[in-house]
Amino acid sequence: MDSHRRVVSGMRPTGELHLGHYHGVLKNWVKLQHEFDCFFFIADWHALTTDYETTQGIRASSRRMLIDWLAAGVNPGSTTLFVQSQVPEVAELHLLLSMITPTAWLERVPGYKEMQDKLQDRSQGTYGFLGYPLLQSADILAFRAGVVPVGADQEPHVEMAREVARRFNYLYGRDDGFEAQAEAAIRKLGKKSGALYRQLLTAHQTHGDDDALQTARALVREQGSLTLAEQERLLGYLEGIGKSILPEPQSLLTDTARMPGLDGDKMSKSGHNVILLREEPDDVMRKVRTMQTDPARIRLADAGEPERCPVWQFHELYSDDATRQQVQSKCRGAAWGCLECKQPVIDAIIAEQEPIRERAQQYEENPELLQRIVSDGAEKARDEVRATLNDVREATRLLGI
Ligand code: TRP
Ligand code: SF4
Repeated sequence: MDSHRRVVSGMRPTGELHLGHYHGVLKNWVKLQHEFDCFFFIADWHALTTDYETTQGIRASSRRMLIDWLAAGVNPGSTTLFVQSQVPEVAELHLLLSMITPTAWLERVPGYKEMQDKLQDRSQGTYGFLGYPLLQSADILAFRAGVVPVGADQEPHVEMAREVARRFNYLYGRDDGFEAQAEAAIRKLGKKSGALYRQLLTAHQTHGDDDALQTARALVREQGSLTLAEQERLLGYLEGIGKSILPEPQSLLTDTARMPGLDGDKMSKSGHNVILLREEPDDVMRKVRTMQTDPARIRLADAGEPERCPVWQFHELYSDDATRQQVQSKCRGAAWGCLECKQPVIDAIIAEQEPIRERAQQYEENPELLQRIVSDGAEKARDEVRATLNDVREATRLLGI
């Protein structure tokens, strides 16, 4: 399997998803599932890294979220959907990675210290909370994913996965012959160049000297006496790279700011400014009708300015050109009321949600089907992770007696 085609992403079971999740994340997943080999999972272990005291609702939230995914068009026929805790092999990888990960890497993850302070009152500061970016790294590396769709806030965690993979490959990816072959190639450089290469190698590896790395690379490349394979080996030796047992993943940025909230800020659960993915039509209508508009527009006769109005952002997402032009001129010309202006948005949201609500209903009525989707998914996921673990155990030489 080519890791560039493998996608992994997870979501904490937060309960009901809203239109921000739909436009930001889920539509993206639905698109990716046709082009990539996708694994999407419900990150219930991750929920425990902060909310370990309140696990009562976790099962219902997980189920509801799975239905939201399916209703939004995530197709269990082309993606693997599973619940994180049903793939315990990932925990073994997490454990092994924890042995080689400096705690300083975890402490300097952006947001860790701030979060720590903010959560003081909830008796935080747990081991699991500190380690959660590493758990996320294990989630990703276990599947040898090349592509990880995440929001900007999650990018540092994907970077952590890259660093951990690099360290793992450096420590365990060199098979027994690697060093001897590299040494043989160094001897072929001749006395003078060989000595220089060694000097630069030490400068780079022990002092992190980047200039030394560049110079050494140039030195290797200009050696006519080496075969290409020998050149490659010496270049790899410089960076301490051996076999790539755990490929380094890249993040694929999800544009989570696409969806405005009812108040014009980003739609987010904590903001009380959300329309749920499966909101009842009456509630959609009520929420949009009570939305704030341009504060300067108090009476019908006052001219408004769409740029100052959160409703306009909804038109940008939901309306066609003709409607948008109408909004611009009628708002600025005080030619219609705000309720009239909001109606096309209400209609568009309800129309968008109708097939979603219908699909969700079918899944709500068929719990066995949901059960089968996640148990098939877990089985497929476990096979993948077991294959990774076989290589990992071999590389770390944890093979029993
Ligand atoms: N930590 C992510 C979040 O809070 C969820 C997550 C867990 C995840 N494991 C992952 C995302 C692996 C991508 C890949 O949103
Ligand atoms: Fe906003 Fe429309 Fe009212 Fe203008 S007319 S203030 S765009 S809701």
